[in-house]
Amino acid sequence: MIAQTGRTIETRFTRLVGVRHPVMQEGLGPYKTVRLAAAVANAGALGTVSIPGITEEPTRGARVLRGYIEEACALTDGILAVNIPVGADKATGKVLPFSEAYVRAVVQSVRDPMIAQRLRVITTSAGAPGVARALIADSGLIHIHKVGGTSQAIRAERDGVDAIIASGYEAGGHTHARPVHTFVLVPSVAEAVKIPVILAGGARDGRSLAAALAMGADAVALGTRFVASRDNPDWDPAYAARILAAKEGEDVVFSAIYGPSRALPSGGIGELAAMIAAGIDNDALTRFKDERLIAGQRDGDMEGGILPCGQIAGALQELIDVAEFVPGMVEQACEILAHLEKLIARKS
Ligand SMILES: Cc1cc2nc3c(=O)[nH]c(=O)nc-3n(C[C@H](O)[C@H](O)[C@H](O)COP(=O)(O)O)c2cc1C
Repeated sequence: MIAQTGRTIETRFTRLVGVRHPVMQEGLGPYKTVRLAAAVANAGALGTVSIPGITEEPTRGARVLRGYIEEACALTDGILAVNIPVGADKATGKVLPFSEAYVRAVVQSVRDPMIAQRLRVITTSAGAPGVARALIADSGLIHIHKVGGTSQAIRAERDGVDAIIASGYEAGGHTHARPVHTFVLVPSVAEAVKIPVILAGGARDGRSLAAALAMGADAVALGTRFVASRDNPDWDPAYAARILAAKEGEDVVFSAIYGPSRALPSGGIGELAAMIAAGIDNDALTRFKDERLIAGQRDGDMEGGILPCGQIAGALQELIDVAEFVPGMVEQACEILAHLEKLIARKS
């Protein structure tokens, strides 16, 4: 373990969000990540509360999400985000009912000053942020949007978001139709926008943070790494164990109805593929997918479940304690940055 010195790295991200470390745990729906988010926030990074699925009846879903927010706020004096995938109705261009209900629940919750002290950030993903921007703009929340391409980042900045998560193809969960990997994407996005950029996709530790900073990003976001921790007790421990058992290159990209998704192989993916081939309608497919994602996360069903997971799983060997891991990775990044300076040589 790396000795901790209390050092950190200040960036535009830490100043914007008000966190100690330039590190974030991203949305990991569709099952709850309340205690993981609180643990990450307690460690001085940004913890994210995930939504309870996209097939929940919107009013009920909004109520459950409010419960998650209150629960997470009670467990931390750090800073929290909520992640909401935003989609638009193809015919009308309007934000989908489930996304709208969740965004409204978050905006409504920060009218409570006690919640507003903790919950400072809303992250949107999946669609374009423009559809939800009007609902968020005057809420006081910092709006961060996740993209998988440079043109999407430029559009999101134009739509008024405060920061961008640039997520490379190796990321876990819904990945991108155009496979642009983190190493290519992040410098392009950092060059294209003026707002802070957060690297996501394949991050594992302080080496990833140092690399993110070198590529022009202001912070690093991790998904898979935080799942495989002792501080995610809302999920069945079989999920973390399966990640740690994953071999390099074992992850697969499958058709997840609206786009590709990266996961560990399981029978659940095969069943979904068979249903898609049989022409089952999208609503029934989406319900099936949500159920099987929850079966993996909540119940530890490693065969029938669908198990989103980043390529980095094949490189992870041990469970982490978030309280040690976050300052440890920042310290490791500090050491790397100091060491790299020593490599600079002048030769005639
Ligand atoms: C189990 C799991 C569930 C995820 N669920 C969501 C989600 O609900 N919303 C979202 O925007 N991204 C989701 N993602 C993607 C993560 O937010 C993040 O972008 C990704 O994990 C980063 O890549 P990494 O896994 O290599 O760290 C999920 C990822 C995983 C592994």
